[in-house]
Amino acid sequence: MKTVYITRRETFNAAHKLYREDWSDEKNLEVFGKCSNKNWHGHNFAIYVTVKGVPNPETGFVINLKDLSDIINDEVIEPLDHKNLNLDVLFLKGIMASTENIAVQVWDRIKTPIEKAGGVLSKIKLVETENNFVEYYGGE
Ligand code: NI
Repeated sequence: MKTVYITRRETFNAAHKLYREDWSDEKNLEVFGKCSNKNWHGHNFAIYVTVKGVPNPETGFVINLKDLSDIINDEVIEPLDHKNLNLDVLFLKGIMASTENIAVQVWDRIKTPIEKAGGVLSKIKLVETENNFVEYYGGE
């Protein structure tokens, strides 16, 4: 029983800003830098979803990558691609649209569908820029 980790990458682009209405413009700029720009900015995001499991003896698959791709597309790409993350996305309403927070919300959306497809969600890596990415393993 050898556990294997398999990862599917998908991409989307979206606009957001990191800005607290209860702070002054100066404080927003100080804390969030350019990301606080009131008139938004965008990123080409990449999401890496890692599933773990023992390869099925008949298929050799931990999870069918077509199923995994469909789940990510339905739950993440469709709702986020070409959207304003602060304004357009129901499951991000009222949440600071940071890469960290998006990764946590995405985990909650895809965990159960992945289980139904026979896999166990192990890690989400969300890449915001070449230099900045977050990883979430579902812990507290
Ligand atoms: Ni940004």
